[in-house]
Amino acid sequence: MKFRAIMGALCAAGLMCGVSAVQAAESIEVLHWWTSGGESKAVGVLKDDMTKQGYTWKDFAVAGGAGAAAMTALKTQVISGNAPSAAQIKGPLIQDWASQGVLVPIDSVAGDWKKNLPPEIDKIMHADGHYVAAPFSVHRVNWLYINKAALDKAGGKVPTTWPEFFAVADKMKAAGIQPIAMGGQPWQDLTLWEDVVLSQGADFYKKALVDLDEKTLTSEKMVGVFDTVRKIQGYFDAGRTGRDWNLATAMVINGKAGMQFMGDWAKGEFTNAGKKSGTDYICAVVPNTDKAYTFNVDSFVFFQQKGQKAATPGQLALAKTIMSPQFQEQFSLYKGSIPVRLGVPMDKFDDCAKKSYADEQVAIKAGGYVPSLAHGMAQPDAAAGAISDVVTKFMNSQEDSKTAVQALAKAAKTK
Ligand code: BGC
Repeated sequence: MKFRAIMGALCAAGLMCGVSAVQAAESIEVLHWWTSGGESKAVGVLKDDMTKQGYTWKDFAVAGGAGAAAMTALKTQVISGNAPSAAQIKGPLIQDWASQGVLVPIDSVAGDWKKNLPPEIDKIMHADGHYVAAPFSVHRVNWLYINKAALDKAGGKVPTTWPEFFAVADKMKAAGIQPIAMGGQPWQDLTLWEDVVLSQGADFYKKALVDLDEKTLTSEKMVGVFDTVRKIQGYFDAGRTGRDWNLATAMVINGKAGMQFMGDWAKGEFTNAGKKSGTDYICAVVPNTDKAYTFNVDSFVFFQQKGQKAATPGQLALAKTIMSPQFQEQFSLYKGSIPVRLGVPMDKFDDCAKKSYADEQVAIKAGGYVPSLAHGMAQPDAAAGAISDVVTKFMNSQEDSKTAVQALAKAAKTK
């Protein structure tokens, strides 16, 4: 009675009325790893939307690109009985968490999702025939960001093949520009390595990183992949150890370096810094990958609260908001991605996003639409982690490519 009386008074004062007055009591704790400038701005859109709907947003941000630290924090929370309302989880990990019996279905707000999502992605949002995850956007991983002034100063052209890439890198070096900005964490190593795998063709990528086909993993072509990565490493600076991805992006934004291999969340940093594609920087695809598209789809899953098997109103509102066309548009404009929901207008997006969208359609039709291994879309944690260890070991030692390939085939067997 007392609560109602207070809400009634608030309503009379024009502050909170009806449903939102009741919902105001629910606080939603959201675990994510969006902490860079562009990422914070993007997740801020969701926070504002939810706050407007009367919910209290409890931010549980765990810094660390690609989410390794966030995933460790999540496990601790769930084990100790403090699961957040929602957490940033993607790819096969969604099914993993669902199989633990700790998620809630969100079907009641997903009525029109099937016809508004690409089938490959709709499938990933399900477990046991129910929607258990809400998708945000599509990130393309196989991008190469180039500082335009650095490219002009070096007198180079946008590379489309590896020989062209090395020619540009040499020209930058000769012009006194650090050719590549690279960070120093295993997932960044893996991101570059999978780019080079993709440059051998989408079929090769699929056989190697989706099917984990032993013959492909130990092929001469794969030896060549490691050789190319070794060559690219020759253009890194000495200070990359431990460097975060967004600090590497900042080097390209500020002209301290010429190029960075990174997914299009990097574009969120350029946008956040007020930089324009085409004028200040160029979004090029990784050499030899123009027909292919490594996709990385962020999503949230929703955890049972206080042992309840059904989603709370706040969780349902969150899922519904994430898939709303308006949110999808604004989130991706800040994040550097493109909306995952089909039919969201692209007219407010820049040329890079329009290219991503167009290339996505081509890649889907041509069989070049492949899940990113480095971003948790292609393999369960164990195999992806073991492969990542092989790549990072190679990139941080003098190991030869043939040895790395043998280790790779062994790692692929990790269950
Ligand atoms: C996520 C992106 C994020 C990036 C860097 C990726 O794995 O999908 O949303 O911006 O990591 O943290």
